[in-house]
Amino acid sequence: MAQIDRRSFTRGLVAATAGAAVLPSAAGRARAEGPAPRTVKVGLLGCGWWGMLDLKAAFQSGGVEAAALCDVDSEHLAKAAEETAALQGGTRPRTYKDWRELLAHPGLEALILATPPHWHALPFIAACERGLDVYLEKPVAYDVREGQAMVAAARRSRRIVQVGFQRRQSQAYKDAAAYVREGRAGRIVQVDARINYRAQPRDNAPQDPPASLDWEAWCGPAPRLPYSPNVGHFAWRLEKAYGNGHLVDWGIHWIDRVRLALGAGMPRTIQAAGGTYGLAGRLTTPDTLAVHFEFETCPVLWRHRIWGAAEWSPEADNAALFYGENETVVVMDDKWVVVPKDPKAERRVVEAKTDVLPQHVGEFLEAVRARKAPSCPIEDAFRSTATVQLAMIAYETGSRVAWDSAKEEIVGNAAASALLKREYRAPWKHPWA
Ligand SMILES: NC(=O)c1ccc[n+]([C@@H]2O[C@H](COP(=O)([O-])OP(=O)(O)OC[C@H]3O[C@@H](n4cnc5c(N)ncnc54)[C@H](O)[C@@H]3O)[C@@H](O)[C@H]2O)c1
Repeated sequence: MAQIDRRSFTRGLVAATAGAAVLPSAAGRARAEGPAPRTVKVGLLGCGWWGMLDLKAAFQSGGVEAAALCDVDSEHLAKAAEETAALQGGTRPRTYKDWRELLAHPGLEALILATPPHWHALPFIAACERGLDVYLEKPVAYDVREGQAMVAAARRSRRIVQVGFQRRQSQAYKDAAAYVREGRAGRIVQVDARINYRAQPRDNAPQDPPASLDWEAWCGPAPRLPYSPNVGHFAWRLEKAYGNGHLVDWGIHWIDRVRLALGAGMPRTIQAAGGTYGLAGRLTTPDTLAVHFEFETCPVLWRHRIWGAAEWSPEADNAALFYGENETVVVMDDKWVVVPKDPKAERRVVEAKTDVLPQHVGEFLEAVRARKAPSCPIEDAFRSTATVQLAMIAYETGSRVAWDSAKEEIVGNAAASALLKREYRAPWKHPWA
């Protein structure tokens, strides 16, 4: 296998992007050469694992002040406030438990929204209405109708929105996507994408929540399940009522990038099959899943397995494979490989590591300062989100789901259409009319 440096392989092919992985971002370059960027005053809603990583990425990128933080777990909030103060020379952010009070914090310009997905829609729409720009974590929403209401709110209020598909910034992905789009591998006939890993379900015995956590507020508009560590912090992603499973949580990153590389909108039809086989009784979403997305350009096949056994080829556990008429292009987070059709011809391997999160968050902050569109607007992120949500609807109903992209509706399938929107728990009201 030929291990070649990325520059020599991509020179001439993807000249527009070559070199970017090893150079500072545009924001970083501008800073190195010019005056310090204007400070953007941000608030963070959801101070858990990823929210704090987003905030740290913002500090890494520079030109930010964390004025206020909000969380319904007082322990998370206190720890986050301490870490944030250390990041900004001792200045403690104001802390809130109620997100409505956070949004009213004086002088706030932008919000980083990193609650679990069932708590994205209402704060997002309220933030737009209050005139805040938003870095919104993926998936856009819990259900499709929430996503549509959020797109409408962002448009109405003309807010800058960047959605947390930071893996779009991976230079390996960008170069491979350009290679695919330029037709270097021939017409792409099929794409396979997958993320296999070993999920670690937690204790699922119903029990009192930790004293620091307001479970009622955490559940909010979603069903209030009995608390267990298996549905609470972090573990919610594999619980149907909150995260809706691995494809919606992590797999969505590949579905997003595959769509982008193919220049595709949303799939015309989706079929799905799977189950909970290895972790039966421990998860409410499939630990084994196969989905066939029929996009206009070509079919995209998703597979995941998140229990036990190791893969024969672990390197491709987290990858997308673009099968072209002439070559197969295998894309990983920091590496891509071209496999020629002729088995005797050498494979070409290109490695390119990118610090994607500071780049993506930094791009958002630049967009806020310059009032320009960032690279992952909510309209496009909605398509990736709805695509995986429709896959889960196909799985739930055991039916083929056909999607009309112009009308943004499921066609001729009442059982599936009924799952586009979930009823909210009072007093919260679903934002879709
Ligand atoms: N872009 C990525 O690669 C990536 C990776 C991981 C997570 N995420 C996304 O980030 C978000 C958060 O995920 P996580 O892994 O950090 O979850 P987490 O459980 O670690 O943290 C979520 C935090 O939100 C708080 N919270 C919940 N409801 C709240 C409310 N109403 N008001 C205030 N705070 C509330 C929780 O108490 C918790 O501290 C999700 O949307 C997730 O999909 C994105």
